[in-house]
Amino acid sequence: MPTKVILDVDTGTDDAVALMVAALSPDIELIGATTVNGNTAVHSCTENTLRVLDWIGLPQIPVHQGMTRPLARQQMTQLNPASRIHGDLLDLPPAATARIQPGHAVDWLIDTFLASDGDITLVPVGPLTNVATAIQKEPRILEKIPEIVIMGGAHDHGNSTASAEFNIWLDPEAARIVVNCGRPIRMVPLDATHRALVSLDDCRALRALGTPAAEAAARFVEKRIEGYDATQPMHRASAAPVHDALAVCAIIDSTVITTQFIPVDVETGGELSVGRTVCDFRFRSRKPPNVHFAMDADEPKFIRMLMETLGRTA
Ligand code: RIB
Ligand code: CA
Repeated sequence: MPTKVILDVDTGTDDAVALMVAALSPDIELIGATTVNGNTAVHSCTENTLRVLDWIGLPQIPVHQGMTRPLARQQMTQLNPASRIHGDLLDLPPAATARIQPGHAVDWLIDTFLASDGDITLVPVGPLTNVATAIQKEPRILEKIPEIVIMGGAHDHGNSTASAEFNIWLDPEAARIVVNCGRPIRMVPLDATHRALVSLDDCRALRALGTPAAEAAARFVEKRIEGYDATQPMHRASAAPVHDALAVCAIIDSTVITTQFIPVDVETGGELSVGRTVCDFRFRSRKPPNVHFAMDADEPKFIRMLMETLGRTA
């Protein structure tokens, strides 16, 4: 049976690949997507999400638009500083058939989870503003969420600051609410995504597949590689992480990442450390573990999974 999934996205280039993997994988039933302010303003994230679904021929997948700014840090609405990696609007034709659904994303999340059989995995791959707002507005949804698989966080090094990864850094108050919500959480941080890079050779292999999803993924990853080589070079030139797609692949095959079950919390107060996911690997806090935190990934397996799913058509 495929795993039912709701993706919460701030569609930029890696969210776009994650959406296509989730929509095309036979192991996932993509119930819908919700958009949130993050890589770009939420209305652009929504347009990008609709463009992706149109492009792969699945305009019927419902998309609801969500929060325009973080819970507490109202000023944080600017583009991700590394917008050479995302840009504003994706290099796809404007959305034509796919349409934004009526109603706020937070209300749709609440209604959908309350009406569900408790079998929908929630996969936030942007700032956690929508998810935290839904939990605060209707805590009863928690008993209906079997697992939250988050792309976000960092232990060894950040990307928005020395301390913090972008999704957590943009809305640390929201992230703190979600990591402490009491439900099973898998976190796919930079420590894992930076060990699963996609290269220019992989982009050539994607293009050779000849499918709309593979062509678009090659286009997006080539943009990411140019942006990373220019702004945050990885340990291997001409290769880039595709963070959000790794989180979705972990739903399909959990062995694509390696996790440790540890206490994790989010710094919301520090001047230099705000947005840091504080990982208590040695249990110094005496707190119970709350997050399955990924510190490694299987790059060859990740690439194989991308080729298998993006080589499919709707
Ligand atoms: O730090 C990487 C994360 O921030 C990814 O989800 C990317 O899309 C951006 O949202
Ligand atoms: Ca994202």
